Amino acid sequence: MSELRGVAGRILFREGQESDLDAIAEVEAESYSSAGAGLSPALFAAPVDTLSHVALSDDRLVGHVLLTRVEGPDRALALAPLAILPSWRDMQIGTELVRRALARSRDDGWRSVFVIGQPDYYCRFGFKSGLADPAISPWQGPRLLALELVAGALEGWAGPLTFPESYEAVVRATLPKSAGH
Ligand SMILES: CC(C)(COP(=O)(O)OP(=O)(O)OC[C@H]1O[C@@H](n2cnc3c(N)ncnc32)[C@H](O)[C@@H]1OP(=O)(O)O)[C@@H](O)C(=O)NCCC(=O)NCCS
Repeated sequence: MSELRGVAGRILFREGQESDLDAIAEVEAESYSSAGAGLSPALFAAPVDTLSHVALSDDRLVGHVLLTRVEGPDRALALAPLAILPSWRDMQIGTELVRRALARSRDDGWRSVFVIGQPDYYCRFGFKSGLADPAISPWQGPRLLALELVAGALEGWAGPLTFPESYEAVVRATLPKSAGH
């Protein structure tokens, strides 16, 4: 287990489960516009693979990240939402959640991850906009970022990148209000 500084060292991180959905929806409601509340439950219910991690302080769910299968390169995921309760931000909880979710994705055989987000935040994990340049997507631009979980996974790939419909709803809901995307 990785060494964590400060408060995040006292946080329990684990995979998300169906019984977390109400608490996850609350975290999202605190983080996004009303259109954004309940995004994860919608993605969980969609007929696509998802992988989720949560952060808990005592028994309270304080943060959440979700990865969802995307159509494009072989075994590719899209990351969103990522949300931490406002009073728990800037404690490295989001960073640790994403690190753990990415490690799990790699262990499960996923090869790359895309995110539509703030490059300043996601560069810490190795996300780069250049890696996503060959993607044909309405979201193409400096905020469309990609990460290879397996070295060379995106080498030579070019083509359409299609997010699940519910994922696009996540992005639309987070763009206007969230500084994170
Ligand atoms: C963005 C968010 C997930 C970050 O989570 P967090 O646990 O507060 O972040 P961490 O503590 O791991 O990281 C803090 C670092 O990220 C930076 N950071 C935080 N929000 C940022 C943003 N929007 N853009 C760029 N950097 C950001 C901080 O400056 C800090 O930098 P440092 O490590 O160099 O000191 C959280 O602020 C949040 O839930 N925001 C609302 C929802 C959202 O925007 N989600 C992201 C896209 S879906």
